[in-house]
Amino acid sequence: MKKIAVSAPGKLMLLGEHSVVYGHPCIVTAVDQRMFCKAEFIERKDLLQINAPEVDVYNYAKSMNELGKGLVPKGAKFVEIAIKNFRDAHLFEDSIRITTSSDFSANFGFGSSSAATVCVIKALSELFELHLSNKQLFDLSFKTVLDIQGTGSGFDVAAAIYGGTIYFKNKGEVIENVKIDHLPLVVGYSGIKADTVTLIKQVAKLGIQKPELVEKIFFEIDGLVEKGKVALEKKDFDSFGKFMNQNQHLLSQLGVCIEKLDAMIDAAIRAGAYGAKLSGAGGGDCIIALCAKNNEQKVKKEIEKVGGEILDVTIHAEGVRIENS
Ligand code: PMV
Repeated sequence: MKKIAVSAPGKLMLLGEHSVVYGHPCIVTAVDQRMFCKAEFIERKDLLQINAPEVDVYNYAKSMNELGKGLVPKGAKFVEIAIKNFRDAHLFEDSIRITTSSDFSANFGFGSSSAATVCVIKALSELFELHLSNKQLFDLSFKTVLDIQGTGSGFDVAAAIYGGTIYFKNKGEVIENVKIDHLPLVVGYSGIKADTVTLIKQVAKLGIQKPELVEKIFFEIDGLVEKGKVALEKKDFDSFGKFMNQNQHLLSQLGVCIEKLDAMIDAAIRAGAYGAKLSGAGGGDCIIALCAKNNEQKVKKEIEKVGGEILDVTIHAEGVRIENS
């Protein structure tokens, strides 16, 4: 029976988290830690089977007509709803088995749910020989994320599809490639799992309580993203580092930073990084520090001293791709 295997990268947010939820711009880079998905037809009637051992899902089975109904295990949610949305858009009767695996832990905040969603839609698109465009992949994948989370900008979906480093705005209306060849980033994991939806809601609440403050913060982040894009393309790491620091300061004002992230960021700066900030929603997950090659070891050591775990990732990774044919 026909099978298709695909993979998609995780992501790190370079500048612009939170404000991007409200249509403002951000810069995100894809990382070479990938999510994998195999999709195959199976000789059963009306069945979806999911195996996702990395999130404790083993031989989960559901009638195709029941997708999205009843109790869905947390680890199977994005895969199941992705298939439901694909099936609603491109009617099919076949039974399918999906098997996922990942290079990285779902705890890092690299966007495993969005990468898995993109993988499933891409794999089905190829399995049924529809060869959906990236824009069609984005629309179905982003719908899936919104159906489940109820909120989000779609930046992580775009990173998983397009890869590289992208300037992203207005829920995907603008997706532009940022032309860089490398960026010397150190990534430190806090060991704490962030809850993105809770943090988005927290910022929304602050926006209701103090609209002028939040508007002003978002306006300043916009400026940093625009200047950051230019600095990146000019390889002006010194300036980009400063923009990261300023973005971090604004994220602290939004109230999404925590002590552990602050300690890791301060350690990186003390060790001579050009700049450092949290990446993603805040509340945990990872920090990124931009530093000269000859300073990298020192920055890593200082981050470790305050309890951070260094993750070995390369950025600007390739977007979703077929792994076999
Ligand atoms: O927590 P992460 O890594 O999924 O990043 C969330 C970034 C936000 O801007 C807060 C949310 C979003 O969807 O853009």
